[in-house]
Amino acid sequence: MTKRIPVGLVGVTGYTGMELARVLAGHPGLELVRATSRSEAGKKLSVLYPFLSGPGDLGRMGEIVVSQPDPADLAANCKLVFLAVPHKTAMEIAAALLDKGVKVVDLSADFRIRDKATYEKWYAVEHTQAALLAEAVYGLPELYRDKVRAARLIANPGCYPTSAILGLAPALEKGLVHTGDIVIDAKSGTSGAGRKAAVGTLYCEVADSFRAYNLTKHRHTPEIEQEVSLLAGEDIALSFNTHLLPISRGILSTIYTRLNKPTTLAEVHALYAARYKDQPLVRVLPAGTLPETRWVRGTMFCDIGLAVDERLGRLIILSAIDNVCRGASGQAVANANLMLGLDELTGLPTAPLMP
Ligand SMILES: NC(=O)c1ccc[n+]([C@@H]2O[C@H](COP(=O)([O-])OP(=O)(O)OC[C@H]3O[C@@H](n4cnc5c(N)ncnc54)[C@H](OP(=O)(O)O)[C@@H]3O)[C@@H](O)[C@H]2O)c1
Repeated sequence: MTKRIPVGLVGVTGYTGMELARVLAGHPGLELVRATSRSEAGKKLSVLYPFLSGPGDLGRMGEIVVSQPDPADLAANCKLVFLAVPHKTAMEIAAALLDKGVKVVDLSADFRIRDKATYEKWYAVEHTQAALLAEAVYGLPELYRDKVRAARLIANPGCYPTSAILGLAPALEKGLVHTGDIVIDAKSGTSGAGRKAAVGTLYCEVADSFRAYNLTKHRHTPEIEQEVSLLAGEDIALSFNTHLLPISRGILSTIYTRLNKPTTLAEVHALYAARYKDQPLVRVLPAGTLPETRWVRGTMFCDIGLAVDERLGRLIILSAIDNVCRGASGQAVANANLMLGLDELTGLPTAPLMP
């Protein structure tokens, strides 16, 4: 059997850490050898996650004893480390690992925003590793695949930005829509808020209800604006607003744009289909079919649906992803695959977790 590449995971107890454990458990090219948590150090993974027991790789992963996050130990044992920790924490660990020659995929926001002042304004913390901002590659393979292959440090995209940027890219690259009139109306399942205890994400606060949050000030706004501005070749400011769905996983972004000239649904659909023809993890649905979170649940797919309101000259783009898989941990593994010379799709989930 070919030897698999040893990787580590900082933050195994969070939702993205848990999802990384799920994806890596079925990965034929990567072997998880270190998993850290400050609160659960000393326990076997099979105790934290009973799904990590049984025959073969599942059982082997379950035997891993969770350790304290220690860059020296991670560097001595891993070729690449996933950071599934909050922003600000990630930047310090990333710098320590890179210093020791280890590749890093950071799931936090710490290296996504290229401009230090913009990061500090939206995240209200000082960026202490600004020298690494120029080097970090934004890990959306559909836009930056070749750069990801050569990278030491990946800024893994945010969940909402993944859905919004993939939804808008074809229209902006081709100048199809007005850049001053974009509204992203996005909805996420509750796992997007992380696993830490908070009243706002308790079952009784979320179940059987639906609400907006962080209107006009969500931290993913500058990340989306940065990437869509690069796609359009001009500075774009847009309206990005978020809602909390009473489901555990999934994001649906409904993006309202204004067409620059009268365009039919067939024409827009042809443009989107051509843009994503060679991108196996983006599915442009047949004209008239709209995406649903359940068809991408637990998978790496981004499903895109389109509608043209000819009466108002609007193109409405719908983009569905799983926030923890495509929007975080699955995408992190796709990036790791590319950085380590594996096929991008190796070990990625593609069949949905059905209800
Ligand atoms: N949830 C999503 O859908 C999603 C999507 C995309 C990106 N992200 C980003 O991914 C990162 C992780 O998100 P999450 O939702 O998995 O968060 P989470 O559920 O809150 O988990 C955070 C993890 O980080 C560890 N941690 C916290 N502080 C730490 C520190 N100072 N040093 C070392 N480890 C620390 C925690 O374990 P201990 O406290 O036991 O050490 C825990 O395992 C965040 O930056 C988040 O913004 C999340």
